[in-house]
Amino acid sequence: MTLPIVAYGAAILRRVAKDITPDYPELKKLIDDMWETMYYSNGVGLAAPQVNKDIRLFVMDSKQIFEHLEEDEKGVYADEPGVKKVFINAHIKQLNGEEWAYNEGCLSIPKIREDVYRPEEVIVEYMDENFVQKTETFKGITARIIQHEYDHIEGKLFIDYLKPLRRKMLHGKLTDISKGKIKMDYKMVYPK
Ligand code: NI
Repeated sequence: MTLPIVAYGAAILRRVAKDITPDYPELKKLIDDMWETMYYSNGVGLAAPQVNKDIRLFVMDSKQIFEHLEEDEKGVYADEPGVKKVFINAHIKQLNGEEWAYNEGCLSIPKIREDVYRPEEVIVEYMDENFVQKTETFKGITARIIQHEYDHIEGKLFIDYLKPLRRKMLHGKLTDISKGKIKMDYKMVYPK
């Protein structure tokens, strides 16, 4: 089942989400629905607050990006061919390497894409969908998506990284999104 995506302006996107335990009700169903919602809306990641759940859960699939790379872009990224993973109770332990720019978007902030600088490597402690504890290092586009989704469970959005002037220029568009004055091909819920 696809779930409606919470639009920019909603309070839940600004909250620090909580860890969960294996007895969280209907977790398997929620994860399945998040995958379905993410693929349906052509996203590469989706965090629980974006489907109105105040919990530390996100899904991501960087394999999709590598499937669509041009020939001359192949072999450029350290994380090819990408990963597809569920992250529960994620906590970033370390960020390493040079910051690099990538044009990011967000399903909660449709039709806005901006260059965001982030470190190239992330070390994250998390549990997989079976609640097996892991600590792993990710690089490249995979590390990028993990940091973007991780921000969601910390109540942060990619536009927070923009310079004040750039942010100001987007003000009108952001207001339109929060008021639902946009035409989307996936379901969204707007703040009241
Ligand atoms: Ni996002």
